Amino acid sequence: MSKLILEGFMGCGKTTYGKALADKLGIFFMDTDKSIEQMAGMSVSDIFARRGEADFRDMESSLLTRIAEQPRKYPRDMILSIGGGMPVKLENRINLSMIGRVVYLRATEELLVSRLQGDNADRPMIAGDDPAAKIHKLLEEREAIYLDAANVIVDIDGKSDEAIVRELERYIIV
Ligand code: S3P
Repeated sequence: MSKLILEGFMGCGKTTYGKALADKLGIFFMDTDKSIEQMAGMSVSDIFARRGEADFRDMESSLLTRIAEQPRKYPRDMILSIGGGMPVKLENRINLSMIGRVVYLRATEELLVSRLQGDNADRPMIAGDDPAAKIHKLLEEREAIYLDAANVIVDIDGKSDEAIVRELERYIIV
């Protein structure tokens, strides 16, 4: 086994399914947003508000570089859930490909809007007015990027949580 990375848009379930799979397999789970929050001592929203998006993106990139360049500091087998904007930078996509197998948890815009509409306060990229329009624009910009970074695509619409976790389990490299 080695590292499985979950990428995809906010609200696609990277953390939920990643944690469920890691628990099922008894392996380590890591979420880049959570790690950055712990290092910064504040929430992602506060990092955006106080230090700006560029600083947050730098923190994301240095964390990923550390995982790629110092793999012995992390468990060999783990599920890594990354922030929805992580694959946007090319250097991050290169590091992702070195770290492990990348699964794109793909959801339709309709499903993402329904999941995120009432839950956007802590998500600075879509906070404020008209989250649906922000989701539409970001998805349009990112779809090709998620596909470029992905080794595997798992479509989540219409599937139960258990079915998604079972499907993800198939992509663990033994
Ligand atoms: C972001 C996604 C968030 C978090 C930050 C920016 C993005 O992570 O990293 O708010 O640009 O898509 P989740 O995808 O885990 O919500």
